[in-house]
Amino acid sequence: MASLMLSGAENTKLINSIVPSGLGSVSLNFHKKCFLRKNAVSYGNKYRTINLTPRCSVSSTRPSSQPRFIQHKKEAFWFYRFLSIVYDNMLNFGPWTEDMREEALEPVDLYDRNMRVVDVGGGTGFSTLGIVKHVDAKNVTIIDQSPHQLAKAKKKEPLKECTIIEGDAENLPFPTDYADRYVSAGSIEYWPDPQRGIKEAYRVLKIGGKACLIGPVHPTFWLSQFFADMWMLFPKEEEYIQWFKNAGFKDVKLKRIGPKWYRGVRRHGLIMGCSVTGVKPLSGDSPLQLGPKVEDLEKPVNPLVFLSRLILGAIAATYYTILPIYMWIKDQIVPKGRPI
Ligand SMILES: C[S@@+](CC[C@H](N)C(=O)[O-])C[C@H]1O[C@@H](n2cnc3c(N)ncnc32)[C@H](O)[C@@H]1O
Repeated sequence: MASLMLSGAENTKLINSIVPSGLGSVSLNFHKKCFLRKNAVSYGNKYRTINLTPRCSVSSTRPSSQPRFIQHKKEAFWFYRFLSIVYDNMLNFGPWTEDMREEALEPVDLYDRNMRVVDVGGGTGFSTLGIVKHVDAKNVTIIDQSPHQLAKAKKKEPLKECTIIEGDAENLPFPTDYADRYVSAGSIEYWPDPQRGIKEAYRVLKIGGKACLIGPVHPTFWLSQFFADMWMLFPKEEEYIQWFKNAGFKDVKLKRIGPKWYRGVRRHGLIMGCSVTGVKPLSGDSPLQLGPKVEDLEKPVNPLVFLSRLILGAIAATYYTILPIYMWIKDQIVPKGRPI
């Protein structure tokens, strides 16, 4: 399993990173705030040092130039109405494997069985199955906007004692300072306003509590970029870090993850490409102030626009089901130790 760690950014102008060879460079883009930082990145035993100039978008909503057809609540709801039928067989077989899940959950530090954990966008409970290995199921709440995904989670024996509820990641039905750990795996890409979701993560955590957000990373190869931006949100690594910092989190860290047969390749982006963690330093709500919500599931949408988005988004998603197979074939063909 490919994984590496980037520590949270400090205010600087240049970035002096150590990036593993074979993983490509990390380009950090900050429009709003520029900062210099020193990152220790490890991957196996190979390191190389590069200097990077940061340019980072801290946008919370998508620019109109990037349609992201399924990065809407209603479209995501219907997308999962159908995907939930095959979700566990398809996704968890290829781009989101059990060993990736263990790697991704490791930084959230689930060391006590009595910890109160919320799994936001928990879906069929695949990420929750990793959580309940370390925490008693009765202390874990799964929340998702899709009843179809949750119906699958409810059938899983190890999750029988979990609390399973429908709800929105941007408006969590928990009091402030409620949980010891917040986990959300593979859900941020559908949130119309990711910054708001991360602000909610901050709010519901207790002081000293830790959030862990596992999500996609943006591709650099043009074709992959085209389909990624058509389908859903593939944030850049620096955007995750900035969203966490904006929300008030401290000790923000990003760990790269990926299927082992990718051999560290990141140019095509990844559906599950990183695990970002941050610690809540003070009790109470996030210091970040946001305006009104971008979207609401209850709000009516134009049925034609909705259907076009759903179909186009689903077509773009197909590319990302073929890609892991293509990478797997390359991994089989290209001699071990050579880049693919
Ligand atoms: C790729 S699945 C991830 C499921 C699970 N966490 C896992 O690791 O397999 C994404 C999930 O996020 C849910 N989701 C999307 N937008 C959401 C929102 N605004 N609030 C809550 N759940 C959401 C979807 O319904 C879906 O079940």
